[in-house]
Amino acid sequence: MSHPASRHANVVLVGFMGTGKSSAGRLVAHKLGFQYIDTDQLVSQRAGMDIPRIFAQNGEAHFRDLEASALESLAHLERCVIATGGGMVLREANRERLRELGFVVGLIASEAVIFDRVSRNSRRPLLQTDDPRITVQEMFAARAPLYEAAAELMIDTTTRSPAEVADLIVNAARQAFAWQTQA
Ligand code: S3P
Repeated sequence: MSHPASRHANVVLVGFMGTGKSSAGRLVAHKLGFQYIDTDQLVSQRAGMDIPRIFAQNGEAHFRDLEASALESLAHLERCVIATGGGMVLREANRERLRELGFVVGLIASEAVIFDRVSRNSRRPLLQTDDPRITVQEMFAARAPLYEAAAELMIDTTTRSPAEVADLIVNAARQAFAWQTQA
């Protein structure tokens, strides 16, 4: 994927649920001295309720509108690490915005590892199905090309620790921006 001639100095993380966006993202922010922002948290704050409640009360389509408008609200940012919800890439307009926002890194992991990670809590409304394993498989297959379309770099987190993933992201971001940081 090509990137815009002038882009903001942010690192943007996309990827399926359970690929480690938040854990790696916090570490990257710490290493670079950037602010960490999570679009799910932003949506919750702006809506005044948590994500499961938004889905339960207003449905997925409404959540997607809130998510898109949260992303729009970040357009002015600099020196942030922005971790996005797993479905942020679904809308083409969002993918375009992500690209304008900064250096986009996609995280992937094997379906087995994703399933293992997401099974540890029940905070994800889209996985509250009769057979979450099949749901993960189907969603993953449908979305994988979208993460690749949005990202300039894909990193497989299956066997990597969050610290290893964060180091890869920091090094790639420095090259992408030709930054001279000491982080
Ligand atoms: C979603 C992923 C979640 C959250 C919402 C929908 C998705 O974020 O935005 O439950 O569609 O994949 P995480 O990827 O941080 O779990």
